[in-house]
Amino acid sequence: MDKHDICCELISDQTSCHAVYEGGYTPAGISFEEGRKLIATNEALFKQKVDESLIRHYNVIKSLCTKGSRFWDYGNSFMASVFDAGATEIARNGINTNDGFIWPSYVEDIMGPLCFDYGYGPFRWVCLSGKDEDLRKTDMAATELIDPNRNSMDRDNHYWISTAEQNKLVVGTKARILYADEEGRVKLALKFNEMVRNGEIGPVMLGRDHHDVSGTDSPFRETANIRDGSNVMADMATHCFAGNVARGMTLVVLSNGGGVGIGRSINGGNGIVLDGSSRMDEIVKKALSWDVMGGVARRAWARNSGAVDTCSAWNDKHQNAGAITIPHPVNDEYLHELIDSDYGGMQ
Ligand SMILES: NC(=O)c1ccc[n+]([C@@H]2O[C@H](COP(=O)([O-])OP(=O)(O)OC[C@H]3O[C@@H](n4cnc5c(N)ncnc54)[C@H](O)[C@@H]3O)[C@@H](O)[C@H]2O)c1
Repeated sequence: MDKHDICCELISDQTSCHAVYEGGYTPAGISFEEGRKLIATNEALFKQKVDESLIRHYNVIKSLCTKGSRFWDYGNSFMASVFDAGATEIARNGINTNDGFIWPSYVEDIMGPLCFDYGYGPFRWVCLSGKDEDLRKTDMAATELIDPNRNSMDRDNHYWISTAEQNKLVVGTKARILYADEEGRVKLALKFNEMVRNGEIGPVMLGRDHHDVSGTDSPFRETANIRDGSNVMADMATHCFAGNVARGMTLVVLSNGGGVGIGRSINGGNGIVLDGSSRMDEIVKKALSWDVMGGVARRAWARNSGAVDTCSAWNDKHQNAGAITIPHPVNDEYLHELIDSDYGGMQ
C-alpha cells in the first residue's frame, strides 16, 4: 500500500502483541510454521526478527500517516511493542512510555471521550434459565426502559436492543450486551430483579467486560488518557474490586494482563445473580453504581470534561448518598500573575 500509494483512511493493528515474543506476532518474511520452529530452536533469532519486523511495520504506518492515514492502537500493545523493539521515537517524549505514544490508543481517542467519560460501557446479562423466551422478555423490558431521546448513545442502544433478537447473535448462553451508563445499568438491573421476583423470568446474572469504565488500569489502553500522572497506578481497578466485594456482588475478580499482556494492566470483572430478593435490589443500587462511578470519578480527576459533567450530575442527583470529589483546576494564568506580583524574583 505504501509503495503503490494506495490511499487508506483508517489503520489499526490487531496482531497478538500482548504476547509478542511468544508467537503472537509472526515476523514478516517467515511463515507461521517457520516462526514456531524458530521459537523452539533459536528464540534469540526469533526475537531479533520480531523486532526488525515491528520496526519495518512502524515505518510503513508512519509513512502512510504522512500521506493522510489515521492510525490508532487497538489495545493490543502494538505501540508498546514497537517501543520495546527499539523505536523509542514512538513514545511521545522519545524516552519512555510515561507520556504515552505519538498515536492514540483507541480508548484515548474513541472509547474514552465517547463512552467511558459518561459511564457507558459493556453491561451484560445472562438468562440463567437458558430460555429464549426469558431473553426476549429482558430485551423488551430494556427497550421500554431506554429513552432514545436522552442522548445519542441511548438512541443507538434503543435501536440495538429493539432489533437484537433479529440479528441472531446468540449461539449458546442466553446473553445480551448493552453499552449502558450507571443510571441505565441500575434501572435495567432493578427491573430484571423485579421480573424474577414476579416469576416472569428465571434468575439473571449481570456482568460486564473487564474492558469497561472502571475495571481496568492500563496505561496502554483504558487509562491512556488519564493525564494526572496516575495512569501508571493500579488504584482504580483495585478500588473497584474491593468496593464491589464490600457491596456484596456475587462474583468479583481481580486479574493481571487482559488484552495488553501480563504486567501491563490490572483488570477486574464481576457478576451479580438476580434472584428476585430485595437484598439484590440493595446490592444493585450500591454496587453497580460504585462499579461505574469509580471509573468516571477517576476520569474526572484526570480533567476529562465529559467525566466532570457526569460526576457533577451524579452529585446533584444523589444529594444524601455521597459526593464525588470534583477537580477544581488551577487557573494557570492567574497563578503566574500571582507569583509574578507577590513573589517576583524569588526562585
Ligand atoms: N481492544 C480490545 O478490546 C481487545 C479485545 C480483544 C483482544 N485484544 C487484543 O488484540 C490482539 C488480537 O486479538 P485476537 O483475538 O484477534 O488474536 P489472534 O491471535 O486470534 O489474531 C491475531 C492475528 O494476527 C496475525 N498476525 C501475527 N503476526 C502478524 C504479522 N506480522 N502481520 C500480519 N498478521 C499477523 C495472526 O496470524 C493472527 O491471525 C491481542 O493482543 C488481544 O489481546 C484487544
